[in-house]
Amino acid sequence: MMRPMKLGGSELLFGQGTLSHLETIKAKKAVIVLANDVMIKNGVMAIIENHLKNANISFSIFMGIESDPGLATVKRGANFMIQYQPDVIIAVGGGSAMDAAKAMWIFYENPDINDLETLMDKEKFPKLRKKAQLVCIPSTAGTASEVSRSIVISDDKTGIKYGIGNMEMVPDIAICDPITTISLPKSITAETGMDALCHALEAIVSTRANYLSDILAEKAIYDIFNTLPKVIEEGTNIQYRETMLTAAMVAGLAFTNVSLGITHSIAHGLGSIFKMPHGLANAILLPYIVDFNSQNEPTKKIYNNIAQKLGYNTLSKALIDLNTNLGIPLALKDRLPNKHDFDSKIEDLINYALTDGCTKTNPIFPTKSHLRSIIKMAYAGKE
Ligand SMILES: [Fe+2]
Repeated sequence: MMRPMKLGGSELLFGQGTLSHLETIKAKKAVIVLANDVMIKNGVMAIIENHLKNANISFSIFMGIESDPGLATVKRGANFMIQYQPDVIIAVGGGSAMDAAKAMWIFYENPDINDLETLMDKEKFPKLRKKAQLVCIPSTAGTASEVSRSIVISDDKTGIKYGIGNMEMVPDIAICDPITTISLPKSITAETGMDALCHALEAIVSTRANYLSDILAEKAIYDIFNTLPKVIEEGTNIQYRETMLTAAMVAGLAFTNVSLGITHSIAHGLGSIFKMPHGLANAILLPYIVDFNSQNEPTKKIYNNIAQKLGYNTLSKALIDLNTNLGIPLALKDRLPNKHDFDSKIEDLINYALTDGCTKTNPIFPTKSHLRSIIKMAYAGKE
């Protein structure tokens, strides 16, 4: 049976100048959540602060979020909010800042909840928006946390990463203004952009894909393929930045509804076990997964159709050329050179991927031996 689609929260803004929408928000007190001072140094915060002042919204800044946000940071942020009592939370940043802000929002509104496990249980997941609404302003064209129902938060004590998904967490307002991404370094632009492409390419072959998610994913695929190399060449081109940010958000609308596949399952494992950046892991894995999934005829047809429109015979070749163009390595060994260490953890990686939530919507449900051979091939590189 089809699951209901949710396309963002109540308001979705994208394009140059949309930060001014902050002036229309009905709120009195805001907590702004920042990972670090990058958004202050690049001038984005000055624009945001100006809009909030014009709207008579007072604000306080919570800053300091690690790249894989942990529960301790989330609790610190929630306590900060309990002190300040905001009626709006504004997250400005990449996936970590937005994910952490979503989690802080939960603990701020529900101080009786103490752990992440409660949030894994759909029945126990609390209602939000009792105290505040959530605004997300992404500063990378990648994770699409601004329109997604999911967060990844680590338990600092056990080291376990919790991927939690619930439509309750879709931010109320998403503002995708490309000015926030204009100073993003090349390598982060490339890796986060490949994450966005991976969202679209996994959504379009998901076992839950539907008419609407396909429209969203397909448009995002072509726009990212065409624009990502250009934005790497000319990072200050606001038009390219806008296309990337909008396409990444649109890919997010698709995947948050129909889920992903085993590129993400393995990438989550590589992130957890080897601390490999998420977008980089997806980028390296993607051509290998496309080859594996091509054993499924309907999936192969979808891939071939995309490849043809891109001027290629196969999608995996198009992806290899794109990675090469972006300076992304073609094999995991280039980033994880200690083969002995990798081999000793490969079974953990397989088990991680097998039980990951994204595996069940992959067009082929993999066996352990499938995953082993995909991972080994992605490690060594293609002939
Ligand atoms: Fe992702």
